[in-house]
Amino acid sequence: MGRIIAIANQKGGVGKTTTSINLAAALAEKGKKVLVIDTDPQGNTTSGFGLDKNELENTIYELMIGECSVDEAIHKDVVEDLNGLDIIPSNVNLAAVEIELIDADQKEYILKEAIAEVKDNYDFIIIDCPPSLSMLTINSMTTASTVLVPIQCEYYALEGLGQLVHTVNLVKERLNPELEMEGVVFTMFDARTNLSLQVVENVKEHIEENVYKTIIPRNIRLAEAPSYGLPINLYEPKSAGAEAYRLLADEVIARKF
Ligand SMILES: Nc1ncnc2c1ncn2[C@@H]1O[C@H](COP(=O)(O)OP(=O)(O)O)[C@@H](O)[C@H]1O
Ligand SMILES: [Mg+2]
Repeated sequence: MGRIIAIANQKGGVGKTTTSINLAAALAEKGKKVLVIDTDPQGNTTSGFGLDKNELENTIYELMIGECSVDEAIHKDVVEDLNGLDIIPSNVNLAAVEIELIDADQKEYILKEAIAEVKDNYDFIIIDCPPSLSMLTINSMTTASTVLVPIQCEYYALEGLGQLVHTVNLVKERLNPELEMEGVVFTMFDARTNLSLQVVENVKEHIEENVYKTIIPRNIRLAEAPSYGLPINLYEPKSAGAEAYRLLADEVIARKF
């Protein structure tokens, strides 16, 4: 069975979506079969792969409320030139799901149930979470085998991390005993400032979780790629950002649970 990785941090703008897109693409480039699930109503992962999020008939929303099958929700081989990278997209409709499913049975497990029949078709499933600890993030964590936390190299990096780790532990205790911490990955590292380095050192001192050796640099190409609907390894294959996500993919593959 493959690994299901939830990319989570309730802070916005820390690199969850950038990591979801580019880690998934780097894994696919290495021959892995990958499914990306966008669970953020902002749909940035969806548009980052070149889909027009407002023109989609079947998304994670239709899947979660039972209006389409999982096969209908999956968009296969979403990027040309990259085999084996599928996506369940999202758009703003998903914002209503929490209210619509408020009385649903087992509402913490809706996503898990919804993808159960396809999950063994993939080596990795990458779930991009919204910037909250909402029902959607809980659904991602009950579906996942591990949680990967991107941490932005900025002054308030540690803020909220304790709460996130606490949530992961609660989900593990009560909803998904299999859940493990994949670890943290530093993002937007700026080699020109001391601050980035200090943040990395400080966070390492304060956490017990696995820290990935690969540090994602701040790289303008990573910020540009989504507007072309391409992951970095296709948009600018030799950029520092592309190389970093390849190294991260190697580490993720090597890490066994
Ligand atoms: N390593 C990076 N270098 C440069 N820009 C980045 C990098 N990672 C993310 N960004 C940019 O920072 C912003 C927030 O990143 P994003 O991945 O959308 O975060 P989140 O999903 O956590 O909200 C986006 O505009 C993105 O393009
Ligand atoms: Mg995001």
